[in-house]
Amino acid sequence: MGDGASTGSANSLAEPVEATATLASTGSANVAAQNFFVLTIHFVRVGGEATNTHKKNCSTLTGIRYILTRHSSLITDMMLHNLTISVIGPGAMGEAIVGGLLRQALVGADQLLVSHPREERRRELAARYGVQTSHDNVAAAHWGRVVIFAVKPQQLGRVLDPLRGTLRDDDLAISVIAGAKIYDFAHALEHPAVVRSMPNTPATIGEGMTVWTAAAEVSEQQRGWARTILGSLGHELYVDSENYLDMATAINGTGPAYVFLMMEAMIDAGVHLGLSRRISEELVLQTMLGSVRYAQQSSAHPAQLRNGVTSPGGTTSAALSELERGGMRTVLADAIWAAYRRSVELGKAR
Ligand SMILES: NC(=O)c1ccc[n+]([C@@H]2O[C@H](COP(=O)([O-])OP(=O)(O)OC[C@H]3O[C@@H](n4cnc5c(N)ncnc54)[C@H](OP(=O)(O)O)[C@@H]3O)[C@@H](O)[C@H]2O)c1
Repeated sequence: MGDGASTGSANSLAEPVEATATLASTGSANVAAQNFFVLTIHFVRVGGEATNTHKKNCSTLTGIRYILTRHSSLITDMMLHNLTISVIGPGAMGEAIVGGLLRQALVGADQLLVSHPREERRRELAARYGVQTSHDNVAAAHWGRVVIFAVKPQQLGRVLDPLRGTLRDDDLAISVIAGAKIYDFAHALEHPAVVRSMPNTPATIGEGMTVWTAAAEVSEQQRGWARTILGSLGHELYVDSENYLDMATAINGTGPAYVFLMMEAMIDAGVHLGLSRRISEELVLQTMLGSVRYAQQSSAHPAQLRNGVTSPGGTTSAALSELERGGMRTVLADAIWAAYRRSVELGKAR
């Protein structure tokens, strides 16, 4: 553990932390606060002019609408002002969270600490993001008011045991770990405020889909933190029952793998037909992307969209007939059930 030189004002309870890269903090929260006051002054000034003319009234209303819209996002920014966040197990998903929070300037790098056993990984993350690092999960859990757990399910038992009783009453634990139940987390940590979430790999580029739920003991403010933190990964969806988390694991958590497999199979088939790999890849990726965007913008059911491109006796009809003969729907449904059962099993294994 080193001198923790740039813990800054983010955390008055700052524990010593290791190597800290020099960084130009985004200072987003300060910027948000400044904007808030500038806009408030503007609001008062514009409001004062409102009685003069109808024209001015209209522009005032537009101004007020603008200000209110701006304020709602500023309030979100300010929710994370000075909030310290530790990430235990910053691998692919933990890094996606760090990257998302910084990319959207929701926190400054001095508000983040990552805890990893390997020095090489700690150095890599400090150099890439300017965040603080530690090899000590207990120190990391003390440091953050929000502690995010992003280790593999198999590593979780070893990680949780030494952390029993380390979180303060108003701290929040967020798990992104497949299968790990809120009850087990709360029990192992002796801390009831736990959020369980299931993100997915596109979170790495801010295009993730994260489903989450919270223990009854998680306060409204903490729910706001969780929503903002998980929202930095892309889309987030709160559900009111933990049962949905195992289902979400099988759909959005595991889903990218189904899509990548289909992508790979289509690209290979294109190459088999005689297309170059580059051309085949471009055709497949843009076809998938375009189809998803089209489905998102259309109010039609996917079956209607499919029927729309299936002419009687045509090429699509010939292809679909093969997919049905191969049992594509059944295999996909079986795969999703297998992922669901595995998620439930992982939860029971602890
Ligand atoms: N990746 C996804 O698409 C995805 C999607 C949804 C949910 N998740 C969930 O996210 C979690 C992490 O997945 P991932 O893909 O990010 O895995 P990962 O890349 O392996 O990240 C886990 C990290 O934790 C580190 N670690 C191991 N022991 C540790 C310890 N005692 N203290 C602190 N860190 C430790 C690992 O180090 P080493 O590399 O040295 O082992 C690794 O860097 C999993 O539980 C998974 O269920 C992942």
